[in-house]
Amino acid sequence: MTSTDHTDIEWNLEDKNDRELEQIEIELLLQGIHRFYGYDFRNYALPSLRRRIWHHVYAEGLSSISALQEKVLHERACFERLIYNLSIPVTEMFRDPNLFLTFRQKLVPLLRTYPYIRIWHAGCSTGEEVYSMAILLHEEGLYDQARIYATDMNSRSLQQAKEGVFDIKRMKQYTKNYLEAGGTRSFSEYYTAKYNSVIFHPFLKKNMIFAEHNLATDRSFNEFNVIFCRNVMIYFNDELRNHVHGLFHESLSHFGILVLGAKESIHFTSYSDSYEPLDRVEKIYRKIK
Ligand SMILES: C[S@@+](CC[C@H](N)C(=O)[O-])C[C@H]1O[C@@H](n2cnc3c(N)ncnc32)[C@H](O)[C@@H]1O
Repeated sequence: MTSTDHTDIEWNLEDKNDRELEQIEIELLLQGIHRFYGYDFRNYALPSLRRRIWHHVYAEGLSSISALQEKVLHERACFERLIYNLSIPVTEMFRDPNLFLTFRQKLVPLLRTYPYIRIWHAGCSTGEEVYSMAILLHEEGLYDQARIYATDMNSRSLQQAKEGVFDIKRMKQYTKNYLEAGGTRSFSEYYTAKYNSVIFHPFLKKNMIFAEHNLATDRSFNEFNVIFCRNVMIYFNDELRNHVHGLFHESLSHFGILVLGAKESIHFTSYSDSYEPLDRVEKIYRKIK
């Protein structure tokens, strides 16, 4: 198969033997990555994983998953490129504005009663969600007493997050999101434009802590009042999703808040009885046991 036929993956796999072979190659690739690099993708949901792997096969100018395995194991740079592609670092500021509006209206009054607020953004990607939270807390007068822990398994994304530099072309959309999320100022107050980028003001970073953390393999590292994890577990299978919910349950303080976002839910996980809903639309839960 050449790099131009990648839309024909289904055609190529009509044969049962091809499908079995593909399954074996994917398993061997993931096992190799796990054993050699310590990254565990074995419990990611197969359809999207499979698509991404094939895209990467072609992007590397190869024709089979086995060839990719060979290259990934022998060339660290190829492995890093694969990780970046598998991690799907798509995000935006005040993504799903209604969630931030709900957070402002329903959760901020609760957080005001805490002397100190620890928030964990698990799978923060390039940081847009984290800067959004810092702005929201700043406007509500709560940022000084907060610490925002921003983690991701992707070191390249985290580096971008630490820099706080974003594409100027996205500011129109982000300003719209900010206003819909209940923003009270002019959004441009928070950044300075430079060429094609904007740099968010350093005061927003003062209570942010960035760290590499892999939800599949790393442990709980602190106790939190709030955990955000959006658009991350949708790529996991049930087993890994349950594992991560175990990690979050262990990491939340009593009455701690779990924010999943409208598309995800605690139902059908082993932890559904451990939480009560605070907002049924935005899937915001409070730990009760
Ligand atoms: C689609 S982005 C979501 C970013 C942000 N939470 C949002 O909703 O806009 C998914 C992020 O999850 C991260 N991720 C995927 N698997 C992970 C894992 N096992 N541990 C930590 N982060 C992971 C990816 O690197 C990526 O940055």
